[in-house]
Amino acid sequence: MVRTGFWLPLLASALGLLSAEAKVSQKATKHLAGSYVIEFEDSQDPAEFFSHISSKAKTRMNLDYPLFKGASIQFNDLKTAEAEADKLNALAGVKQVWPNRVYYLPNDEVVWQGSAGDESIVQNIKRQTVNDIFTPHVMTQVDKLRANGITGTGVKIGIIDTGVDYNHAALGGCFGEGCLFAYGTDIVGDAYDGDNTPVPDPDPWDGCAGHGTHVSGIIAAQANELGFTGAAPGVTLGMFRVFGCTGGAANDVLIDAFMQAFEAGSNIITASIGGSSGWSEDPWSVAVSRIVEAGVPCTLSAGNDGAYGMFYASTASNGKRVTSVASIDSEVTPLLLTESHFTVDGGEQQTFGYALGDPSGWKNLTLPLWTPSFDVTDPAMACEAFPADTPNLSEYIVLIRRGTCTFVEKVTFAAQAGAKYVMFYNVSPGAIAASASDVPEIIAVGMVDAEQGESWVASLEAGSEVVLDMLDPLTAPVSLSYSPNNITGGFASTFTTWNPTFEMDVKPQLASPGGNILSTYPVPLGAYAVLSGTSMACPLVAAIIALVSNVRGTLDPATLENLLVATAKPQLLNDGTATHGVLAPVVQLGAGIVQAYDAAHATTLLSASSLAYNDTDNLVDTLNFTITNLGSEEVTYDLGSVGAATGYTFSDSIYPDPFPGLELTDEFATITLSESKVTVPAGGDATISVTVTPPDIDGSRLPVYSGYITLNGTNGDSLSLPYNGAVGSLHDTQVLDTGYLSISSDADLNPVTGNASFVLPKTNGTTNATYPVAVALLAFGSPQLNIKLVPAIGSSSDALGHIFGSPYTYASRDPYATAFDGVMADGTYAPAGDYKFSIEALHIFGDASDLADYDIAESVAFSIRYV
Ligand SMILES: *[C@@H]1O[C@H](CO)[C@@H](O)[C@H](O)[C@H]1NC(C)=O
Ligand SMILES: *[C@@H]1O[C@H](CO)[C@@H](O)[C@H](O)[C@H]1NC(C)=O
Ligand SMILES: *[C@@H]1O[C@H](CO)[C@@H](O)[C@H](O)[C@H]1NC(C)=O
Ligand SMILES: *[C@@H]1O[C@H](CO)[C@@H](O)[C@H](O)[C@H]1NC(C)=O
Ligand SMILES: *[C@@H]1O[C@H](CO)[C@@H](O)[C@H](O)[C@H]1NC(C)=O
Ligand SMILES: *[C@@H]1O[C@H](CO)[C@@H](O)[C@H](O)[C@H]1NC(C)=O
Ligand SMILES: *[C@@H]1O[C@H](CO)[C@@H](O)[C@H](O)[C@H]1NC(C)=O
Ligand SMILES: *[C@@H]1O[C@H](CO)[C@@H](O)[C@H](O)[C@H]1NC(C)=O
Ligand SMILES: *[C@@H]1O[C@H](CO)[C@@H](O)[C@H](O)[C@H]1NC(C)=O
Repeated sequence: MVRTGFWLPLLASALGLLSAEAKVSQKATKHLAGSYVIEFEDSQDPAEFFSHISSKAKTRMNLDYPLFKGASIQFNDLKTAEAEADKLNALAGVKQVWPNRVYYLPNDEVVWQGSAGDESIVQNIKRQTVNDIFTPHVMTQVDKLRANGITGTGVKIGIIDTGVDYNHAALGGCFGEGCLFAYGTDIVGDAYDGDNTPVPDPDPWDGCAGHGTHVSGIIAAQANELGFTGAAPGVTLGMFRVFGCTGGAANDVLIDAFMQAFEAGSNIITASIGGSSGWSEDPWSVAVSRIVEAGVPCTLSAGNDGAYGMFYASTASNGKRVTSVASIDSEVTPLLLTESHFTVDGGEQQTFGYALGDPSGWKNLTLPLWTPSFDVTDPAMACEAFPADTPNLSEYIVLIRRGTCTFVEKVTFAAQAGAKYVMFYNVSPGAIAASASDVPEIIAVGMVDAEQGESWVASLEAGSEVVLDMLDPLTAPVSLSYSPNNITGGFASTFTTWNPTFEMDVKPQLASPGGNILSTYPVPLGAYAVLSGTSMACPLVAAIIALVSNVRGTLDPATLENLLVATAKPQLLNDGTATHGVLAPVVQLGAGIVQAYDAAHATTLLSASSLAYNDTDNLVDTLNFTITNLGSEEVTYDLGSVGAATGYTFSDSIYPDPFPGLELTDEFATITLSESKVTVPAGGDATISVTVTPPDIDGSRLPVYSGYITLNGTNGDSLSLPYNGAVGSLHDTQVLDTGYLSISSDADLNPVTGNASFVLPKTNGTTNATYPVAVALLAFGSPQLNIKLVPAIGSSSDALGHIFGSPYTYASRDPYATAFDGVMADGTYAPAGDYKFSIEALHIFGDASDLADYDIAESVAFSIRYV
């Protein structure tokens, strides 16, 4: 149904040509060709719309909901689809038409997962540290609410995810009325991958992906063998499955899922899903914002793209009023190690633990260890081919230090020397699940902690023989222990996405533990797993909202968000290796780590969850907020402010600096408050004006400043309100790096330098022909990206029009590649001739009708004719 090859995503491997900076932002957005999401005017009968399209398009999904009346459609003829979509705008009943974009699950890291297909792990768990105080709960004061018997009873949380293994005993063991998972549905079916047509069924079971089962346990896992529970085990859950076993989920599916979750009476909706955007105008964001406006708090993960630097906001977390959740690393790392034995020089049998990797064929194996180097500080060990005098490694377990290059690279070099088994040793505390499933020669990989690895290396260096006697991992005992993380524990996870939006909305709202989280996993995939991602932080906040609502008796999204934000604790800046003496920017951690008990019991309510001062062009220098005293006594508040680190978006490139390379300074804005002390009577309120003087620093580098207004009340409330702003002009920021011509047969999409000519078939569907491809490398977000066809001798003003696929609205700062088969946006074929592409990206806050507001790149000339 979908013509492939015409929306060419730039793959990770297809980046040979990109500059170092561009490589950092290598993701490409993907839209379904010829598919659109339509919203109808509320008052209009959509009959006219459906009769208009009946001969031209199929309805993919009916989105007939009070908060979103519309449909998604798929045009039969892709060539005329865009022109037809344009015409829809003119129909009386149509309010908006959006392309149907595809989103993916965040790239959460699987730190550990139980043995596939085996339930005995649970029986074999030996808890070395019986720790009933689950660290993510202690970090967020969930333990204090739970000690008071608060469990989220009576609250329905709708989860949008990959489905759930509700057969898991810790997730209730059943689905339907009376079960923990009482409601929900499968909107897509197992075979759905984002490109094909969803095939719904009523059963949201997840036996293949795992993500949704992990998310579910964070919210509401029941007491289990591993000694933890979810934060709100008393809630009722609904699962709306939007992913099949692989691939993505399109806008229409996500909108439908949110609307179904809302209609089913969810009191809170959560989704750990996103895609790079930076624009609150995305259709999915718009739909989620409406649900929040209708009174249902929605939590969304901020994204796992921390390395990309600032202004990489993820949708739908970037929607107005949507609660965007950043990730903090857990203060302890759960370690689930599979046990086996070893001997040194045939001596006494000793026990060791290792993190099982993928593949995991360690079954009853006894082999000596061999290591390529005795230097336990050599970071690049096994990052190049092993020397020629290396013995045949097929009868050894190869011991390799983790670091510098990937597991797959190290294992590949070992395999070239005959290896089939590789045991890594770690360089940081604990051990993680190494993956080398892409290397066919390898039968098993694993990882021991640094201490164990170094001790083996010392024995080998001393000339001893170390023999590992591997037990079958399916039946070997597993030990659970917790190792303190004193490097990043309690601070931002390095992967958490940096904001703000391209329109300076304050994002994320707050943070919670998402790094190294133990939770449930589908029984066929091992029953339990430790994962890291904002995907894990987000559901914890949804659960906390349920707990707080139990105490306060309200589910009003603004009230709850304002309380959670005001009571959250800002954290010091940590770059993954060290902590600095300045607070982490609001654009990274929002209000800081959520504090459930304080939010439940604060008697002070602030009227806002943030103050946005915008950039220099749009500076609103004074913003107000109101303090309401809900208590029964008069309260005096001391008011102050504290700056968080200011980050320069750019240094010497038009691409934002990556993190941790991002330059941060303690040049703060100056905050002037209308009062430094205010007394508010019981039940009364007071309005405070906050005036900002941005720091006097180089606006050409677009520094983003932020910090907190602080309030200490005589009632014991200690609150903070985040603010942010930018120095410089978003409007004047260059958005287009370059635009050029490439050819569809080049997977790397290198620029074509010479004169190129193309012979194009006028057929539907994929052919063997080579097509011209317009490539736009966006260094920053653009509200509109045009790809126009221009005569070889001519300029943008002589353009024949947009090519099919153009324009893109609300473009993220990513590469966009569009193949051209001769078809223009209006469905007609361009005449044979000599042309070039004019690639035009509109500046932020620019005027779409003024060419002077665009960055324009022209490709080299090329000629087209038809078969
Ligand atoms: C492409 O396919 C559509 C629908 O199958 C058909 O209406 C149209 O005529 C075809 N166009 C060409 C050029 O074959
Ligand atoms: C592995 O060894 C154990 C203990 O000797 C034995 O019970 C089990 O059957 C063996 N498994 C295989 C696959 O050989
Ligand atoms: C190592 O030995 C095995 C078994 O004798 C043999 O199949 C393999 O080709 C050898 N590998 C190398 C790299 O020499
Ligand atoms: C973390 O703990 C380890 C072991 O207790 C210690 O050696 C190290 O210095 C600590 N690091 C920091 C940053 O505190
Ligand atoms: C910043 O100013 C622009 C232009 O007026 C506006 O569109 C945008 O919404 C403002 N941003 C915020 C967060 O208020
Ligand atoms: C803030 O409050 C002051 C004093 O009450 C008022 O003059 C001003 O208009 C308010 N500003 C905004 C942006 O609401
Ligand atoms: C509020 O209390 C905190 C912690 O004691 C302190 O750091 C901060 O300066 C106080 N703020 C004001 C405005 O007094
Ligand atoms: C490309 O074609 C133009 C016009 O046909 C010609 O003037 C020019 O020299 C050619 N350039 C190359 C690099 O072949
Ligand atoms: C594409 O190329 C293959 C192999 O060269 C050939 O078998 C096939 O018929 C071609 N298809 C079209 C549509 O030209």
